[in-house]
Amino acid sequence: MTVIGTGYLGATHAVCMAVLGFEVLGVDVDPAKVELLASGRVPFYEPGLPEKLQDALASGRLRFTTSFDEAAAFGDVHFVCVGTPQQPGSHAADLRYVDAAFTELARRIDRKTLLIGKSTVPVGTAARLAQLVRSVSPLGDELELAWNPEFLREGFAVEDTLHPDRLVFGVDSEWAERQLRVAFRPLLDEGTPLVVADTATAELVKVAANSFLATKISYINAMAEVCEATGADVNLLATALAYDDRIGGRFLKPGLGFGGGCLPKDIRAFRARAEELGVGQAVRFLDEVDQINQRRRSRTVDLVRELAGGSLQGARIAALGAAFKPNSDDVRDAPALDVARMLYLEGARVVVYDPEANANAHRVYPDLDYVGTLAEAVMDADVVVLLTEWDEFRRADPRDLGALVSGRRIVDGRHALDASRYRAAGWEYRALGRPAEAATAQLVENDKDSVAHA
Ligand code: UDX
Repeated sequence: MTVIGTGYLGATHAVCMAVLGFEVLGVDVDPAKVELLASGRVPFYEPGLPEKLQDALASGRLRFTTSFDEAAAFGDVHFVCVGTPQQPGSHAADLRYVDAAFTELARRIDRKTLLIGKSTVPVGTAARLAQLVRSVSPLGDELELAWNPEFLREGFAVEDTLHPDRLVFGVDSEWAERQLRVAFRPLLDEGTPLVVADTATAELVKVAANSFLATKISYINAMAEVCEATGADVNLLATALAYDDRIGGRFLKPGLGFGGGCLPKDIRAFRARAEELGVGQAVRFLDEVDQINQRRRSRTVDLVRELAGGSLQGARIAALGAAFKPNSDDVRDAPALDVARMLYLEGARVVVYDPEANANAHRVYPDLDYVGTLAEAVMDADVVVLLTEWDEFRRADPRDLGALVSGRRIVDGRHALDASRYRAAGWEYRALGRPAEAATAQLVENDKDSVAHA
């Protein structure tokens, strides 16, 4: 099989398929990326993936190339995993890379093979692409296309690919379904649930899932706004809600909200596509979901300003975290970096430390100061703000940090710290949706683990 596009999704898919025993050719238009991967290095931070890449290369079953000619000659099935970012100046998805990958491949295909899209696309894309590829391929109408959405989470990419919670095949024929069953036999043999659907449904599964997750996060963050107006505590509220199995605690963690390369752009692209289809009203609530999420960022800035004494001008702020979530170096639409930028624009001197994402963050916002350790970040800080809940920050001892800062003031943007420990060590502790002096001790023991670690 071939895997076209070796970014997050594609590199992980290519490596995992080789680990599962298939002969895999990874294809990318970027020679630098191909060279890195071929030499056993992963161009992004993903726990466990470098080891698996090296195993796969050593097995001789995984190679990389920039050549579409080679890809077309090699593959019986082709997985297209290229990116679908948000279009500049619009909410819609930018499909130019998807279109290019399918066209380049199809042009060279002269024997019966299956083209499989894995990228997240607006519903209806597979049907359009099926026509496109048939019009350019020497194989003509015999060329088939299927859609197989991917649900992997950054930070758990290998685990999610090797042991997914479900597989979805969007197919137009039994032949296509058979090809996909062969390609995923090891996972199907393990009992992974499979949903076989038409291509439109398969495309929708992905955006519907991400929209639901985004909505769940914004729901609890909307409750945080109400808590702020009433003196209630959103952490206790979320814990109590999570005991209801129908609600569940996962993705119900309040705080700074969602970011990354998927959730924000997917809900916007879904809105844009629904408008095109004349059903914009059905998912208009996603605008609210987006806005609630954005408001968490400005509200975090408000809290930091408040702790800084009403103005950020000249304040030294330690920003802990830049990645959109822990165990990732991805800063795409990262709430953490957005908050750091807003603090800087209000005149603060922002010192950023992220265990993995400093380099990526520096590329996007070179004006902020970046340091290589937690201690350097908090040194002489007027206010510390936790923006990404890395374990290193959770584990830090408030007394040790307290000895370094200029004032013991902390905003916990991720509800990741033990408020009572910080308060006991003399810190003024604030978190979104929690009262300034909270009755946090009331958090029941045995609280659902899933809430805390959603
Ligand atoms: C997401 C989907 O989970 C995955 O299935 C899909 O394939 C790609 O998009 P990912 O972008 O890796 O995965 O991140 P995810 O773990 O879903 O987190 C998204 C954002 O939501 C992060 O910024 C995280 O900090 C935030 N989040 C998550 C919350 O704010 N609260 C929560 O309770 C959970």
